[in-house]
Amino acid sequence: MSAPAALITGGTSGIGRATAELLLERGYRVMVTGRESVAEAARSLPAEIVVVRADARSLTDLDHVMNEARQRFGALDVLFLNAGISRVKPLAETGEADFDDLFDINVKGNFFTLQKALPLLNDGASVIFTIGAGTGIAAPAMVAAKGALLPLMRSAALELAPRRIRVNAVSPGAIDTPVYSRMGIPGRPLSPGARAFPSAGWGCPPTSPRPWPSWPLRPPATSPGTISSSAEAWASGGSRTTHDLR
Ligand SMILES: NC(=O)c1ccc[n+]([C@@H]2O[C@H](COP(=O)([O-])OP(=O)(O)OC[C@H]3O[C@@H](n4cnc5c(N)ncnc54)[C@H](OP(=O)(O)O)[C@@H]3O)[C@@H](O)[C@H]2O)c1
Repeated sequence: MSAPAALITGGTSGIGRATAELLLERGYRVMVTGRESVAEAARSLPAEIVVVRADARSLTDLDHVMNEARQRFGALDVLFLNAGISRVKPLAETGEADFDDLFDINVKGNFFTLQKALPLLNDGASVIFTIGAGTGIAAPAMVAAKGALLPLMRSAALELAPRRIRVNAVSPGAIDTPVYSRMGIPGRPLSPGARAFPSAGWGCPPTSPRPWPSWPLRPPATSPGTISSSAEAWASGGSRTTHDLR
């Protein structure tokens, strides 16, 4: 029997990248997608992890990813819908381009990635959304885009239940990843950036030698790696918040 296969969108950096390394350690065949960090990821990730360039906004790119996954893996056991961007801007400063980027990448990208993965997902597979930023941040467009994923996830869980496909979400608190430097916020605990997110603890940086032991916070599962496990029984349509990461 071949090893289970996982596709991780936004797996070239941060949370997705750490999850890719974790699943590889656990014996998965892993493919990651990304856009700007693809070349660096291909150089620095373990050679067994397949890196594919795909803009989450492009349906053509998503078709390309699924073709690659079909050719290399045949089918998928885990789909981690993690590609996303953040824009922490107040109402008055949010431009149309910000709004479109937030919804195109976070909402449209995840929706169509899931749609296009459907023929590849094995019955009993696990789909995990990264949500986060649902509450507690004064950035209405970003919160709305991330918030849209929760009902999307729950509705997809209902639709895919007959195939025993579990659809869940993780909502990380502030995790020290490159997302903050992309926004010009220094991503260190107790930095001005950290104070911008007072309700959230800071998760361990994914570049630390053992990034994940602190993330499966407490059972039941709170990390993509754990939710994807069949040990998580038959939970579907659930969302776990992972604020308490210190
Ligand atoms: N870090 C946090 O505190 C936090 C909290 C709550 C939720 N989240 C969410 O967690 C997810 C991962 O974030 P992270 O913190 O790990 O940030 P990150 O290091 O910036 O990683 C984001 C990933 O998404 C990919 N991505 C962005 N735009 C894309 C596009 N148009 N097409 C394809 N891939 C795209 C990036 O690929 P390239 O770099 O290759 O372009 C990268 O792999 C995001 O959805 C984020 O909103 C993060």
